[in-house]
Amino acid sequence: MTAASEVVWDLVRGAWRFAALSALVELDCPGHLEDGPLTVEEIAERCGAHAPSLARLMRVGASCGLFTAVDPGRYALTDAGRLLVDGVPGSLRRAVLVNTAPALSYATSNLAATVREGRSAFIEKYGVLYDHLATDPDLSHVFNEYMTDRALPMAQGVAERYDLSSVKTLVDLGGGRGHILAAALRANPHLRGVLFDLGHVLPDARAAFDEWGLSERVELVEGDFFASVPPGHDAYLLGSVIHNWDDEDATRILRVVREAMSDDGRVLLVEIVVPDDDSPHYGKDLDMRMLGLFGQGRERSRSEHDALLRAAGLRLAGTYDLPVHATLIEAVPA
Ligand SMILES: C[S@@+](CC[C@H](N)C(=O)[O-])C[C@H]1O[C@@H](n2cnc3c(N)ncnc32)[C@H](O)[C@@H]1O
Repeated sequence: MTAASEVVWDLVRGAWRFAALSALVELDCPGHLEDGPLTVEEIAERCGAHAPSLARLMRVGASCGLFTAVDPGRYALTDAGRLLVDGVPGSLRRAVLVNTAPALSYATSNLAATVREGRSAFIEKYGVLYDHLATDPDLSHVFNEYMTDRALPMAQGVAERYDLSSVKTLVDLGGGRGHILAAALRANPHLRGVLFDLGHVLPDARAAFDEWGLSERVELVEGDFFASVPPGHDAYLLGSVIHNWDDEDATRILRVVREAMSDDGRVLLVEIVVPDDDSPHYGKDLDMRMLGLFGQGRERSRSEHDALLRAAGLRLAGTYDLPVHATLIEAVPA
């Protein structure tokens, strides 16, 4: 194979490998191996599968680094495979599940139509993702859990790397289950929080804050950040929110926040900052998710973030690197 064809084959094989990954997760093969190595027959019995077919699936899983063959036909989890077990710290199982959900797969398989029209084929069929999630509690639950898995390392990064000692109240807009806010509260005992999101998200958030013993320090507010947000506070966080929206909508949200915040307040965006060159980058791949689901919602470069903030009467004051390719962007009134 030439180097040029290898580039293309690698991309095609990515689709085959993702199909295998999805099947392994759906059958919960990693979960069955959690307590130790098993033979293909033993795994097949536990997940109700056809053993000779499963043998092939396990072989490709091992070739991708998810399992090791401790004996012929007997597999153990690797560190990467363990991340596909439900409930382990840092589990990425939901990242696979959410990407195979039929509605979200529709966005992927209709990407060309989206690019042709400049409008999301997903939105044409299902409406805006968050309205659709409100009608599908099961998908909403998996999506919120996936966002949680993704947000946890970012949350830890915000708590460790950003100084909130002079902030009185952190308002987490579109906060989901509130993991970033919770990590900030744990690291800053003086801090109070407001979690602001759509109504259908708040029961999950309420349960989470109760479980963490943080309910006393948090107010949960239902609302629409295009209309208004809780006014007069000194810090507003938007974690993975702005990338869901086109420039016009993103500016509208930021303007609402600018109007609500105190003049000495700050806005904290947790976003991906995409490099301006052609190097491979997680943000460029995730941008295909944004394109498919949200049309003109997008991952942005530093200068694009800067332009959005300026359009909303804000100014980029600093950036802080976070885990999982994210950046905390600090903005203050211009
Ligand atoms: C991509 S998720 C980010 C969740 C969380 N901030 C995180 O970092 O994991 C976007 C969040 O914005 C919320 N959202 C969407 N539209 C909204 C609106 N109009 N007003 C308030 N929240 C909204 C969604 O319900 C969802 O929780």
